[in-house]
Amino acid sequence: MITVTDLHKSFGKRSVLNGVSFTAEQRKITYIFGSSGSGKSTLLKAMIGALRPDAGSVRFHDQDLTKLSGRELDPYRKKIGMLFQHGALLQSLNVAENVALPMREHTALDENIIKIMVKMKLELVGLRDFEDLLPGQLSWGMQKRVALARALALDPEVLFFDEPTSGLDPVMTSVITKLISDLNRLMGITCIAVTHAVGEALKTADKIILLYRGKVLTEGTPQEIQASTDPLVQQFITGNPDGPLSFHASSKDFEKDLLVG
Ligand SMILES: Nc1ncnc2c1ncn2[C@@H]1O[C@H](COP(=O)(O)OP(=O)(O)O)[C@@H](O)[C@H]1O
Ligand SMILES: [Mg+2]
Repeated sequence: MITVTDLHKSFGKRSVLNGVSFTAEQRKITYIFGSSGSGKSTLLKAMIGALRPDAGSVRFHDQDLTKLSGRELDPYRKKIGMLFQHGALLQSLNVAENVALPMREHTALDENIIKIMVKMKLELVGLRDFEDLLPGQLSWGMQKRVALARALALDPEVLFFDEPTSGLDPVMTSVITKLISDLNRLMGITCIAVTHAVGEALKTADKIILLYRGKVLTEGTPQEIQASTDPLVQQFITGNPDGPLSFHASSKDFEKDLLVG
């Protein structure tokens, strides 16, 4: 349902996306793996229409988002929710006000309805009794869940997550991963998530995409990915420091590979 085809994006001389193609199926969970700087956030930004690629297409229900601009993207933006890597809750607004924000901005709903909907969204992420607190009074994991409730505000068809578990302990990482899986299963939301929590993602993903040097190195079900004999794929999923992806020895090579020309 979201098909990325031959996507290219460079920043100056640095080629970040170098022909990325894959499909994220409707009502499924797609996880994107890749080392730091491999272009995962750039890819997500292109998929939500926040960044224009140099070439290639992003098709949502057969409409090419890369051909749309400004206002034309509004109908799409209302159908998607995004959980950014660095939370981005408004610190001066309490939890309920943060979650209500998209409803106030994009709908003409009555305040009483908004109150009820905010409660429902907070209930979904297990934070019903925290409406009056400020983000600064919550743990990082709770702030992420509030951001998730806010991403759910407009009942999105698709949810995008950029490292939803970064900075969280293992228990909270499982909680968030399970939450993503529940939202998908119970509400049929298509989920597309970038993550470093490989082990957790392998348990719940329908599809894994592995980004490497600006391209999709491999894609498949968790079973297929785990059965891969490619040493690079094995290194990614086992997190082994020794292997073809040797960070200290080849970070320079890695940088070099990203440069074009
Ligand atoms: N707006 C930008 N301007 C210049 N360089 C950028 C910009 N956004 C990302 N980059 C560069 O592109 C590369 C990939 O970034 P990013 O997509 O954030 O990687 P990841 O999310 O996989 O860690 C990095 O080298 C980063 O510095
Ligand atoms: Mg990133």
